[in-house]
Amino acid sequence: MANSWLQVAVHKKYLLAEDILGLELKAIQGEILPPVEAGAHIDVKLPNGITRKYSLTNAPDEVGVYKLGILLDPNSRGGSAYIHWELRQGDELLISVPCNYFPLVDSEHALLFAGGIGITPIFAMAESLYQSGKSFELHYACRSESKAAFLNTLLDKPWADRVSFYFNDANQKIDAEALIFDAELTTHLYCCGPSGFINWINDIAVKQRWSADRIHFERFNMKKSETIGQESIFEIRLQRSDKVIEVGADQTVAQTLLDHGIDIALSCEQGICGSCMIPVLEGIPDHRDMFQSEAEKKQNNQFTPCCSRSHSQTLVLDI
Ligand code: FES
Repeated sequence: MANSWLQVAVHKKYLLAEDILGLELKAIQGEILPPVEAGAHIDVKLPNGITRKYSLTNAPDEVGVYKLGILLDPNSRGGSAYIHWELRQGDELLISVPCNYFPLVDSEHALLFAGGIGITPIFAMAESLYQSGKSFELHYACRSESKAAFLNTLLDKPWADRVSFYFNDANQKIDAEALIFDAELTTHLYCCGPSGFINWINDIAVKQRWSADRIHFERFNMKKSETIGQESIFEIRLQRSDKVIEVGADQTVAQTLLDHGIDIALSCEQGICGSCMIPVLEGIPDHRDMFQSEAEKKQNNQFTPCCSRSHSQTLVLDI
């Protein structure tokens, strides 16, 4: 998906919690910021050339401003570190229009789980559910109170009684098995946080035979080791140019194609949106996306180069 970029300036920058900044962006040059749905994110193009995705924390009635919560990644290569240490109030940035791969769906009750910085889209969801008079509960796990973004804001909300906090340093743990077991069949579950947290919640729901359409999650900042850790090397043959390119163990197919000047449509880069889908003519892809159904994956006639790899030594692609 080609991004259309909006010009904005940093209106406010403040501390939300230890190592977590709040950022408020406002349009410049008379541009209007499109409305925000709970669960949406934007791509932020930083002056150092790095682009990062961040969830919007806006409540439905907060218009004309985009609000973000940004965790300082200790391994940052210039994304969150730049925002924390270099970016100043008044600096101008380019951002994408909001995109939502994690929308709320209509349900009688929403069971919201947030782990650490995963609170950012979940916070927007809780506020949106409250403002539309919907039933929900929020379970927020964090290492400590000092690292909990929105802690005081949540305690001050008129819906504070629907929020439960769990702090690791106080040995508090979400009893996710019981919460998921006790939920009605009309409840939908939403989860955002580190991959381990999401996998834990997802596994419990799957074991309890929740149908996939009731489980919603969003993974940001997947660590390389989780996607392309100790990977094998394989090659891709581009049918139309008969070019053969090696995909290294530490590279995605998408990165490899871009490095060779081959433009591909990228959006989520997590196997969620399907924007990057490429037809496969020969070979067996190692499908790692969540976009295709199991039946589609079995056909092995297309794959998502942003995250999927190859079981066969060569993949022949129709590009
Ligand atoms: S870019 Fe979204 S699935 Fe690949």
